[in-house]
Amino acid sequence: MSNRVIAIDGPAGSGKSSVARALAAGLGWSFLDTGAMYRAVTVEALDRGVDVHDQVAMGELAKEAQMTTLPRVRVNGRDVEDEIRSERVNIAVSVVAANALVRAQMVGRQREFAAAQPLGTVVEGRDITTVVFPNATIKIFLTASLEERARRRDDEGEASVSRRDVADSTREASPLRQADDALVLDTTGRNVDDVVEEIIQCLKLKTLS
Ligand code: DC
Repeated sequence: MSNRVIAIDGPAGSGKSSVARALAAGLGWSFLDTGAMYRAVTVEALDRGVDVHDQVAMGELAKEAQMTTLPRVRVNGRDVEDEIRSERVNIAVSVVAANALVRAQMVGRQREFAAAQPLGTVVEGRDITTVVFPNATIKIFLTASLEERARRRDDEGEASVSRRDVADSTREASPLRQADDALVLDTTGRNVDDVVEEIIQCLKLKTLS
């Protein structure tokens, strides 16, 4: 069992998933994409006809949902990997992610997951450095220009990415914000390996000190 965590936050398209995945592979640690969890709950609600604005019903649904994110995202026994990045989910997920009852369920599962990993976990999302793992081994905040972020999310477009950023940063429940002690990295024009290398150097310094 290990509680070592590299916590990564940042807006959509800032490179969180690619960097976190490569970092976890490089270190031999586990990887947790928390956005996929909010997306999986959203798919389940849409498919069951649950109103995503109904906070209590959504909280119950999140509490009961059986969920895994690897090797593919599954909810209540269904593979929803191909569905979680669809247009209808992009639109509804920010409402689901703003629900404090849903968040409480997801945060509990994220902490349980990390506590059960043998070496360590690289976790990425929006509230990982600030709420879920405020005592993470290292905290990273990734940014990139809106133009580049929209390009990385090629089927989504600047307006949609920007709408989700505003919703994620201005909501009441655990909004996206930079932790005071996070290392801020602008990934505009940088490749994944380069960013991963910088984080590994930071981790070495931190664990040596
Ligand atoms: O990273 P992503 O685009 O897959 O995230 C999907 C949505 O979930 C997005 O609206 C932000 C939200 N989210 C969140 O509120 N907290 C997290 N820890 C992860 C994602």
